[in-house]
Amino acid sequence: MRSLRTQIAVATCIVVFATIVAACILSNYLTSGMFAACMAAHYPAVAAFSVIFSVAMSFILARQISHPIVKAAAVTEQIAAGDYDVRFESPTKTTELHDLVEAVNHLAGALSKQETLRRQLTADVAHELRTPLTTLGTHLEAMTEGVWEPTPDRLNSCHEEILRLGKMVSDIERLERAEADDLQLDKTETDLFALAQSVTDNFAGELSKKNLRLDLCGEASIVSVDKDRIAGVIGNLISNAVKYTPDGGGIRITVEDKDKAGILTIEDTGIGISETDLPYIFERFYRADKSRTRGTGGAGIGLAIAKSVVTAHGGEVTAQSEPGQGSRFTISLPK
Ligand SMILES: Nc1ncnc2c1ncn2[C@@H]1O[C@H](COP(=O)(O)OP(=O)(O)OP(=O)(O)O)[C@@H](O)[C@H]1O
Ligand SMILES: [Mg+2]
Repeated sequence: MRSLRTQIAVATCIVVFATIVAACILSNYLTSGMFAACMAAHYPAVAAFSVIFSVAMSFILARQISHPIVKAAAVTEQIAAGDYDVRFESPTKTTELHDLVEAVNHLAGALSKQETLRRQLTADVAHELRTPLTTLGTHLEAMTEGVWEPTPDRLNSCHEEILRLGKMVSDIERLERAEADDLQLDKTETDLFALAQSVTDNFAGELSKKNLRLDLCGEASIVSVDKDRIAGVIGNLISNAVKYTPDGGGIRITVEDKDKAGILTIEDTGIGISETDLPYIFERFYRADKSRTRGTGGAGIGLAIAKSVVTAHGGEVTAQSEPGQGSRFTISLPK
C-alpha cells in the first residue's frame, strides 16, 4: 500500500529525472563539436521523448487516482438511489483511495443494516398491534352476535388485551422521550450500590415466585446520574434476567468503583442470547424470540430505552452471552 503523496512525489521525481537526463544528453551534444551534427539530428527526438514520457507518466498517475474516485462517485450514487447491496470492488494500492473504498463500502453496509432493521421494526410493530386487536375484534364480535356470553372471564381477557395495547403505547412514548436529543437529566451524586440494592428489593416477589437466587456484591460507587432513570435501567436489566432465567437459576449483580466510572454488572444463568441476535438486542422492538410468544411478554423496547438513557449520561451498556449458559450486561457510568 502506497500513499497518494508518495506516488505523486515519485512520479514528479521520475519526470524531473527524465528531463535532467534529457538536458544532460543535449548539453553533451552541444559541447562536443564532433557531435554537433548529431545533436542537430537528435535534439527534436530527445525533446519529443521527454514530452511523451512526461505525458505518459501524468496520464498513468491521473488514471490511477481518478479511476477509484469516479467509481466511488458512481457507487455512492447507486447507494443514494437505495441500492445498499452494491459494493466497491476495485482494488487500489493507494492508502487514501483504499480508505475511501473502505468508507464507501462501510457506508453501504451500515445503511443496509438500518434498512433491514427499519423493515423489521415495521413488521414487529404491526405484529404487536395485530395480535391484541384480532383477539379483541373476534371476542367482541362473538359477544355482540350472541355467540358468546359476556362472562367476566371473557371481558377480563378483552381488558387484558387493551392493557397490553396501552402498555405498548406508553413504552413507545418512553422510548421516544429517552431518545430525544434534549433528554433532560436531573443528575445528583448517587451511590450505585445503594441504588441497585433498592431496585433489587422491588423484585423480591418475582424472584421467590421463580425460585431465583439473587446476590448483590461489590462496593459503593458514587456517580453523578439521574437516579430515577438509572433505577429504571437497572430495573429493566433485572426484569430481563428474571424473565429469561428458568426457575431455580441465579442472578448476580456486582458494583465496582473505578477511577473514572462506576461499573454495574448483571449476570444470569438464563437461556442466553445467540451470536446472531446479540448485535441487535439494543435495537427497538428486537426480540430474540421471533415467534413473539406472549409467554415471555415484552415488546423488545426495554434495552433500547436502557441504551438511550446510559448513552445520554455519557456511559456505555454492553452485553455478552453464551447460549444456554447465561448473559452478562455491563453498565459503565462516568463519575
Ligand atoms: N438476560 C437476558 N437473557 C436472555 N435474553 C435476553 C436477556 N435480556 C434481553 N434478552 C433478549 O433481548 C431482547 C430484547 O430485550 P428488551 O428488554 O429490549 O425486550 P423485552 O424484554 O423482550 O421486552 P420489554 O423490555 O420491552 O418488556 C429480548 O426479547 C430477549 O430476546
Ligand atoms: Mg426487557
